Amino acid sequence: MIDGFAEPKGATPLDPDEIEGLRFRHVTTRAQLDQLEQANIEEGLLWLARRRKADILTEQFMKQLHRRLFGHVWRWAGTFRLTEKNIGVDPVQISIQLKMLLDDAAYWVEHQTFAPVEAALRFHHRLVWVHPFPNGNGRHARVAADTFLTERFGHAPIDWAGGHDLQRTSIRRNAYIAALRAADAGNYDPLLDFATASTPHRG
Ligand SMILES: Nc1ncnc2c1ncn2[C@@H]1O[C@H](COP(=O)(O)OP(=O)(O)O)[C@@H](O)[C@H]1O
Ligand SMILES: [Mg+2]
Repeated sequence: MIDGFAEPKGATPLDPDEIEGLRFRHVTTRAQLDQLEQANIEEGLLWLARRRKADILTEQFMKQLHRRLFGHVWRWAGTFRLTEKNIGVDPVQISIQLKMLLDDAAYWVEHQTFAPVEAALRFHHRLVWVHPFPNGNGRHARVAADTFLTERFGHAPIDWAGGHDLQRTSIRRNAYIAALRAADAGNYDPLLDFATASTPHRG
């Protein structure tokens, strides 16, 4: 490892045990790692589109999705984090907090508590707030939120990147992280603005 996989703002650094889980020994830079992960994610998205449709609001599906998105790169893909991060609940709380979120999300669908895009954004924010996995939480939770939006509401997915690369530091990423921080404090307006600036609101 040469550059310590220098992280963009708002990303969680990996600890040495987690780096041990890298399946590619030759990887030395963040750029190489990004590329391997991106290839894996694209395969995972194909799986997601082609799979036999079943309930997505389960712990099993959340883990399976993470494994499909990152399992060729990381041995721990699809397993919950064991270490504390600067974001996220205590590792022993992950399972219970995730269950509460999945139950809440099912309730929001059933009772039409929020318009579809707002429900998906709340789902996304709560999922990254739990931070179930050692890494890949942002990407996993964006795919999970889009799957929630498309499969539970029949709504178009969110245009998260808006023409940028959300994994890299950019105006778009800064707006995204700032909006999540506002949501941490209970204000979802910036996240709604972020998503609806580029996503047609059909709610
Ligand atoms: N203050 C915050 N509140 C909630 N979520 C956050 C906050 N800061 C960052 N995040 C989320 O955490 C993600 C970074 O976690 P990480 O596991 O490294 O995901 P990835 O590897 O997909 O970028 C960000 O993309 C964002 O979704
Ligand atoms: Mg990361």
